[in-house]
Amino acid sequence: MPSKTLMILFVLLSSFYISGNADDALRARNDAIIVRALERIDDHDLEGDVHAMAALNRHLDRVVGTQEYLTLVKKFKLAGREDELLGMIRKSNSDNLKTQAAELLLSKPNGKTYLSNLLRSEDSVTAKNSCRILGILGNDASRTLLLQTITNTQISFEVRQQAIVGLAKNGVGQNSVLKLAMEQTLPADMRLLAGGMLARSNDVKIQERAKRLLPQPQMKDSAPLPPIDQLASLKGNIGAGKELFEGKATCSNCHIVNQLGKNVGPDLSEIGSKLSRDAMYQAILDPSAGISQNYENFSVRTLDGQVISGLKVSETDQVIVIRTADAVDRRIPKTEVDVVKKSDKSIMPENLHHSFDQKGLIDLVEYMTSLTKS
Ligand code: HEC
Repeated sequence: MPSKTLMILFVLLSSFYISGNADDALRARNDAIIVRALERIDDHDLEGDVHAMAALNRHLDRVVGTQEYLTLVKKFKLAGREDELLGMIRKSNSDNLKTQAAELLLSKPNGKTYLSNLLRSEDSVTAKNSCRILGILGNDASRTLLLQTITNTQISFEVRQQAIVGLAKNGVGQNSVLKLAMEQTLPADMRLLAGGMLARSNDVKIQERAKRLLPQPQMKDSAPLPPIDQLASLKGNIGAGKELFEGKATCSNCHIVNQLGKNVGPDLSEIGSKLSRDAMYQAILDPSAGISQNYENFSVRTLDGQVISGLKVSETDQVIVIRTADAVDRRIPKTEVDVVKKSDKSIMPENLHHSFDQKGLIDLVEYMTSLTKS
């Protein structure tokens, strides 16, 4: 829309407010029209246009907490919305929105202070959840905050623990934890946890350095597994397998079964009709062996050095969308992309069975075998 037409539109719509007799619904609709128009022009001097700015602000007040809100605050680089962004990080029920709100807040001059206070919150559920979101975000600013958290022993153990888990989500974060270990500034009560997390890195170099520098927890069951054909002849317990699947084994973080779980990997509701027991073991113990085309794992490095890994959900000339292992869709503008690489490793971790024992593994496969077409 040409700017002139837009200006006329502003004048017309603004007159409603000046005359002061617009009812709320009408005003809301007019504000929305102005905002849609503003979105389409790049060169409008918003600062100098009091009416447009007022309409935008009123509109934002109405859509706080939504994707639209975040898109607008980001696009128009609006200041003074920190408390609302913080509120979204705390209260939104979507990790997707939470992560975007954290990214946006951290891009603001005083954003780090806001988040840093959140991490020190008395309410440990809030503090832990914020660490989790910063881990998913995984950029420089979020990493700095997480590192400050784990080295501050005033903060409770469980919050710092979540900060380690967050940092361990990607290679850059893992290396920053190793650096603390090397400089001997990693607090003593974090060493075992960090050792265990980093020993499960996808990066062999990090695994080795972690094993050298940090204590290693005993594996649940360090006994070597029998060969797959032998495992496949054993019977397990369906109920125990289901419990593991939805709980400690974290399978539900990525797979849906009968509408329950998250949509990262394939829906496994009928997996028992598709795979033999042997193939189930193979899929769990060596997920990278046969990755189907729809589930290839990509990593995108941005110009500012952030690495985002996961499934490529979509790609256009403008934007690439990566679904991370946390089932959060990250939208990365093409203008910010440095390199896109396809990984030969599955996004499904290859050492999941280290968090349970051999019996657990057999129970899991028994459960999956029971998931057949009804
Ligand atoms: C981080 C996400 C993630 C987690 C956690 C995860 N998976 Fe997967 N899984 C995937 C993806 C992605 C695929 C498809 C690509 C591949 O095969 O690697 C997959 C594939 C599979 C397949 C093969 C499906 C087929 O149609 O061939 C099975 C079986 C499976 N997963 C079982 C499990 C079990 C059991 C667990 C828990 C112990 C688990 N997964 C945990 C992401 C995950």
